[in-house]
Amino acid sequence: MERVLIIGSSGLLGLKTYKLFSKYYKTIGADLKPIKNIDKSNYFKVDITNKSNVLKLIEKIRPNIVILTAALTAVDYCENHHDEAWKVNVEGPRNVASACEEVKSNLIYISTDFVFDGKKGNYSEEDTPNPISYYGLSKLEGEKAIEKFQIKYAIARTSVLFGWNTKEQNNNYVTWIINELENDNPINIVTTQVNTPTLADNLAEALLIIVKKNQYGLFHICGKECLDRYKFALKVADTFNLNKSLIKPIEYFEQLANRPKLSCLDTTKASTILNIKLLTISEALLLMKEQQER
Ligand SMILES: NC(=O)c1ccc[n+]([C@@H]2O[C@H](COP(=O)([O-])OP(=O)(O)OC[C@H]3O[C@@H](n4cnc5c(N)ncnc54)[C@H](OP(=O)(O)O)[C@@H]3O)[C@@H](O)[C@H]2O)c1
Repeated sequence: MERVLIIGSSGLLGLKTYKLFSKYYKTIGADLKPIKNIDKSNYFKVDITNKSNVLKLIEKIRPNIVILTAALTAVDYCENHHDEAWKVNVEGPRNVASACEEVKSNLIYISTDFVFDGKKGNYSEEDTPNPISYYGLSKLEGEKAIEKFQIKYAIARTSVLFGWNTKEQNNNYVTWIINELENDNPINIVTTQVNTPTLADNLAEALLIIVKKNQYGLFHICGKECLDRYKFALKVADTFNLNKSLIKPIEYFEQLANRPKLSCLDTTKASTILNIKLLTISEALLLMKEQQER
């Protein structure tokens, strides 16, 4: 049976991917710290910035495939902490790719729509990245770092991940909106950031297809719908029967790092080659609602 190592398995996407892959493969998780209720015999502690520890782990497990979801994902934090962002988001992927080369493992790396400047929108894999934040730059450099190794790799660029989280995980955009509205808190949401939000479960399915179909290369994989944050928030309120009059549209919101205005991704390549059903916002939110009711 093939062995799959998920590095970042305590994060939102990592945990969904770990759970899904465990149904089909011998799946091992690794992260800075474990998540509760995870089978500890299948879990290893690792800091991807530590090259020798990464190599030791990968040599011990000898995976056929490594899926790297670990990253420093807080965009404003990265803007203020360049060294740390570079270590985790560039040297981390380099360390993992180098260890994959040693044991001849394939690698799947998760990247972001924030590699683009957001001036054009509907970005395909052929478009030239031009990041406008340090986070975006570090993720792009992470892509370049793994491309230098003699390994079979896939890069999946995605956008605004959401889905049910565990208590130990941070809120994502949707769980944050649900919490605020349930507590009757008014929220201001921008109409000027437009992207293609992605249910983490849907992306995990796409990663499974990449592995099953043995497809490698660069893919844009995200939700099917391109919409602004305000419209997205209204859809969350509609789906979960929450008070949408608490959501106020605004044009500008002070944030440390620049955000691309229009960073929607074109998923034609992934939809055609992987033959995956990427979900609209309504389909994704309904699925979350069903998961809640189960
Ligand atoms: N979230 C989004 O909206 C979004 C959008 C586009 C692309 N992406 C990309 O998608 C991937 C998954 O995102 P996500 O939202 O699932 O992220 P997440 O929930 O923040 O999970 C990332 C995991 O990586 C861990 N980690 C951080 N530094 C590490 C290190 N040095 N060594 C080992 N593990 C480390 C984190 O641990 P701690 O929590 O303890 O730090 C966390 O468990 C990332 O590559 C991200 O760049 C995310």
